[in-house]
Amino acid sequence: MSTEDIKSGLIENRLFQPSAEFTAKARIKPDDLKALQKQADEDYEGFWAEQARKYMDWHKPFTQILDDSNAPHFKWFADGEMNVSYNCIDRHLASKADKTAIIFEGEPGDVHHISYQQLHDDVCQFANALKAKGVTKGDRVVIYMPMVPEAVIAMQACARIGAIHSVVFGGFSADSLRDRINDARAVMLITADGGNRGGKIVALKEAADKALDKGCDTIENVIVLKRSGQDVHMQEGRDSWWHDAVAGQNKSCTPEWMNSEHPLFLLYTSGSTGKPKGIQHASAGYLLNAIVTNLWVFDLQDDDIFWCTADVGWITGHTYVAYGPLAAGGTIIMFEGAPVIPDAGRFWKMVEQHKVTIFYTAPTAIRALMKYGDSFPNSYDLSSLRLLGTVGEPINPEAWMWYHTVIGKEICPIVDTWWQTETGANVLTPIPGVTATKPGSCTLPLPGMAVDIVNEDGESITEPNKGGYLVITKPWPSMARTIWGDDNRYVETYFPKFGGKYYLAGDSARRDEDGYFWIMGRIDDVLNVSGHRLGTMEIESALVAHEAVVEAAVVGRPHELKGEAVVAFVICHGDRPVGEAADKMVKELRNWVGEQIGAIAKPDDIRFADGLPKTRSGKIMRRLLRTIAAGEEITSDTSTLENPAVVAQLQGKA
Ligand code: PRX
Repeated sequence: MSTEDIKSGLIENRLFQPSAEFTAKARIKPDDLKALQKQADEDYEGFWAEQARKYMDWHKPFTQILDDSNAPHFKWFADGEMNVSYNCIDRHLASKADKTAIIFEGEPGDVHHISYQQLHDDVCQFANALKAKGVTKGDRVVIYMPMVPEAVIAMQACARIGAIHSVVFGGFSADSLRDRINDARAVMLITADGGNRGGKIVALKEAADKALDKGCDTIENVIVLKRSGQDVHMQEGRDSWWHDAVAGQNKSCTPEWMNSEHPLFLLYTSGSTGKPKGIQHASAGYLLNAIVTNLWVFDLQDDDIFWCTADVGWITGHTYVAYGPLAAGGTIIMFEGAPVIPDAGRFWKMVEQHKVTIFYTAPTAIRALMKYGDSFPNSYDLSSLRLLGTVGEPINPEAWMWYHTVIGKEICPIVDTWWQTETGANVLTPIPGVTATKPGSCTLPLPGMAVDIVNEDGESITEPNKGGYLVITKPWPSMARTIWGDDNRYVETYFPKFGGKYYLAGDSARRDEDGYFWIMGRIDDVLNVSGHRLGTMEIESALVAHEAVVEAAVVGRPHELKGEAVVAFVICHGDRPVGEAADKMVKELRNWVGEQIGAIAKPDDIRFADGLPKTRSGKIMRRLLRTIAAGEEITSDTSTLENPAVVAQLQGKA
């Protein structure tokens, strides 16, 4: 796409200032932000080094800051040694052993508080259990769990012994799990019998068994948490229950002192090719940005109750549940279930009950809950809330205003945080006690983050409201280090233009007259469905793997609740299915994609034709497909189409 194509349809001028009361109590006040920015602008390496010394405990202090000798595989604090789990837990024990680290609520309503001391003991016991099963530093461990504290305990235990975890979202299918296990060559799988989600049991162990039966030869051990209580198959010699694995294990476990650059975790995410990529994060740099953003952006203070609703299967659940808030000594909420079980008041009831002060969720959830009206939030006492956040996709001003008035009662600042799996932590975001916000804008870069919008030639676009490529022009501590096992793909995906100098985020954006950033969408074939990234090629590959399908093209269509909906154009062997045959095939293909990838990737709309619209050179005309998917009138020139008749079929007119 050329930057000429990037147009903006939205101009929003409302401005909301933080209240004097909020600012008075905030960690970062206007002068603090100015000072941080000044320091970062003058010497950004020195700036990050100072934060790293201030906010983390080092076993061996670093003397190097940024190492760019193997750019763009940058290293930070490379000769230092530390341990992430030590920094999240042990360093607080002297002052906060009895403080609640995690408040857990299960979907059925069970509530459980875990103190920092208890978390320490549980993490150590589980780390010792991992060691007893032969897991050592550098081994990959896949975690496929419900949203329960044991998921965080497993992640922290891996960090403690230097094992590299890869959390696979519990909504992913057996096939997706298998591919991720095999790509990482994981030696252990940690799962549960089942989790509670949406009023049903998600049969995780059953899916795990399916994955393992299809060939995951590297897996030596499976640990299974008893959560839902249903019967599961346990394979002798390979599978053990969590409670048996930890029984008798010591409640202390000396952390492995890790080099700063040791990989902390892999997290698979979609890109523009069919194969998900294992984004690899380092230890110290990742944790540093996780800590400072929890302090600066979420203003996390000692008496706060921080609820980030993201599942640990996504990056948000890593940085703002499992690691960042704990490293900052905070109290977090973990919720196993869905926001509408038993009704659309569940989130608000939990805010009241647990006196949540900071609430961070996705626009898709806000839109979904907004649809149920104001009476649900208005039935609960939300006065504990002082700060709100959003992440994952652009928030439409209408949803922003609802969040601001009905949830935030016009007194809570909203931090609209732009970032990615690859950036590790917030990049563009308001600082809540300082930045005036505009509905729909993620505002400005954090101190130490060099963000720009550039044209095709890599030149900064200074003209207001002109779209371009969003880039980060200097390395930062929590940036991804590589794609697991594929250094070239990392370079080609993120540093393909501008002489390899800038990190290409894959989003288009514009800056307004005040320099505020507005994200306009993706420039690659990635969809954003309910705040989750899905590669169109990944869904196309799944579709063509079905025996009835010859060819498929997948595009996004704007969707009121989900942001984008998945629309698939499919060519089948033999006659084009119509009528009942088409309905049957749609059902079959939806289930098929659900099995291949997971329910989130099921196409919302599947259309059949005798062929796909292609140019004479054989390229699928995706832009035309997007117009058809959106039900808009076709204004572009279709005269170069090789097979114009299919357009009417895809529109459902023939
Ligand atoms: O397109 C941007 C969108 O989500 C993408 C990153 O997806 P993922 O790696 O799954 O991480 C999501 C959670 C950090 C980005 O490239 N995105 C994320 N946050 C925002 C956003 N778009 C607009 N505004 C945001 N606040």
